[in-house]
Amino acid sequence: MTTQTILITGGAGFIGSHVVRLFVNQYADYRIVNLDQLTYAGNLANLRDVETYPNYTFVRGDITDAAFVRQLFGQYHFDGVIHLAAESHVDRSITHPLEFVMTNVIGTVNLLNAAKEAWQGDRRPSDGERPEAPAHLFYHVSTDEVYGSLHRPESFFTESTAYDPQSPYSASKASSDHFVRAYHNTYGLPVVITNCSNNYGPNQFPEKLLPLFIHNIQHHKPLPVYGKGENVRDWLYVVDHARAIDKVYHQGRVGETYNIGGFNEWRNLDLIQLLCRVMDRKLGRPEGESARLITYVTDRAGHDLRYAIDAAKIMNELGWKPSLQFEEGLEKTVDWYLTHSDWLADVTSGEYQRYYDTQYTDRFTK
Ligand code: NAD
Ligand code: TYD
Repeated sequence: MTTQTILITGGAGFIGSHVVRLFVNQYADYRIVNLDQLTYAGNLANLRDVETYPNYTFVRGDITDAAFVRQLFGQYHFDGVIHLAAESHVDRSITHPLEFVMTNVIGTVNLLNAAKEAWQGDRRPSDGERPEAPAHLFYHVSTDEVYGSLHRPESFFTESTAYDPQSPYSASKASSDHFVRAYHNTYGLPVVITNCSNNYGPNQFPEKLLPLFIHNIQHHKPLPVYGKGENVRDWLYVVDHARAIDKVYHQGRVGETYNIGGFNEWRNLDLIQLLCRVMDRKLGRPEGESARLITYVTDRAGHDLRYAIDAAKIMNELGWKPSLQFEEGLEKTVDWYLTHSDWLADVTSGEYQRYYDTQYTDRFTK
């Protein structure tokens, strides 16, 4: 029996696919509807292991299409939404800012409108209430980048740090966060927001630092380090982020924000050198060979110096903590990419974009 139906947006992307996998495996009594437009970042091969599960449904569609989103809510009567669909890469936001406004801002507002209309008149959880079924919840997945850049070494982003986005990506995510809060304050929409640090792990599109560098090391290509490699990021294994989303969805308090991070800061250059050593060992290359591929290139425009999350609230209140030490997570990640070279090859060749046509369109036309 289905106890609740949850819309997960962006479920074919990097983090979304791990969230979908966790929910369909863990909650056989939930119906999970994955709405994804399958942009360049969406890859249904990420979900091959769960695509035939009876509690899983994939819908291809665009969150910027308001009529379509409203119709989907009418069709499925969602109890909850976990919203991850977004344009997510800072470098692309610098060259194509308007696409980030469309998906991250307009797309989010379309979902908020559809949820507000669909849930109007239903009992709403009040502030601070735990959103246990059958109350509704709109869960917005956001980033630590909305807080801008930290300049004092001992400082961390907390839930009350003022927003100070610096890139078109973070500005669009900050805007979407503001809209989510505004719908809560103005219309009483039951919402929760999490702001997470940099994720790493299997299935990440190889435009982001770690999968790009793993791929380039494998193929003896240069490793483009922006500026002097002195920027600092706080890294969290993607499955630990999915576990945090599960916790917050079920136990987080309505109207609250939770920061998610691993207390795991790395200067880019130190991280890259560690990765090079791990890759040398795994590939049986002499130590130092991969590091010779490091190439310093022009810095990213407006490159934030340091992000670091204070995750005390989610740890103390909800009892979440990362399950993996970074060195272990990095080993696992490298192993995954090395044993899934077909995944990387399909993504870099563009072959992955045919998966929907072959697997899904065929299935529906049979
Ligand atoms: P991703 O780029 O890997 O995936 C985004 C997914 O959204 C893709 O499957 C894409 O097809 C889909 N999508 C894009 N536009 C769409 C549209 N108009 N309609 C429907 N689907 C659309 O992103 P990710 O790294 O998995 O990030 C997921 C979410 O988590 C984003 O909201 C991002 O801001 C946030 N986040 C990411 C990180 C990180 O390190 N990657 C950290 C914190 C927060
Ligand atoms: P990225 O993975 O793009 O995540 P974000 O910009 O959201 O933090 O980049 C992580 C860090 O690595 C960031 O400081 C930029 C840097 N970087 C490089 O030095 N070279 C690269 O080719 C990429 C993609 C990133």
